[in-house]
Amino acid sequence: MKYNLSEITEVIKNRRTIYPQHYSSRVIHKEIIEHLLQNATWAPTHGMTQPWRFKIYTGESRNALAESLSSLYKKLTPEDQFREDKLLKIQARPFQSSAAIVVYMKRGDNPKIPEIEEISSVACAVQNICLTATAYGIGSFWSTPKVIYAPEMNEILKIRDQDKCMGIIYLGYPNEDWPKGQRKPIEYVTEWYD
Ligand SMILES: Cc1cc2nc3c(=O)[nH]c(=O)nc-3n(C[C@H](O)[C@H](O)[C@H](O)COP(=O)(O)O)c2cc1C
Repeated sequence: MKYNLSEITEVIKNRRTIYPQHYSSRVIHKEIIEHLLQNATWAPTHGMTQPWRFKIYTGESRNALAESLSSLYKKLTPEDQFREDKLLKIQARPFQSSAAIVVYMKRGDNPKIPEIEEISSVACAVQNICLTATAYGIGSFWSTPKVIYAPEMNEILKIRDQDKCMGIIYLGYPNEDWPKGQRKPIEYVTEWYD
């Protein structure tokens, strides 16, 4: 065996969504965030387009993120769907987290690479972030409030129309026990052809 498979499997199985309200105030060092991003960039990428892009919000800059997300929620949510509790969550999450990473897909100019493959590649990069965070004992939450897909979000992020925000990865050290997960057995999701 080339690598320690039981450890890798543990990391994969123990990656859990941990919500920011369950993070402590412990700060994640910049070097660790850089490591998460370095590992992100080793995701597979068709045509080597490397479409992942990251905007990191820590410290005071979390204000701007909270303000952008909450103002978009207020602006774009139809009255009959508006929920005050959701707005409060959107406002609070950046501050409950030590760091928030806005992840977007920068559409490459190679027309042979379909958009879904660029999106898939960025999703793999996100998984690398979350797995590496798990190995550090850091909780992560891939958040995708509806507003991130609106053209207004691209304006706020100063990204082009063809680029796509793929979410906000909130990060923090959990202040309680690491949660347990569960999955369907592979028999449920697999058909073998021998
Ligand atoms: C693309 C993507 C977007 C997600 N967006 C949200 C979200 O907006 N809100 C949320 O509560 N969870 C979100 N999640 C996390 C899922 O709820 C979570 O992965 C699922 O409950 C399984 O739990 P686990 O991550 O601990 O295995 C998202 C997950 C993915 C892959």
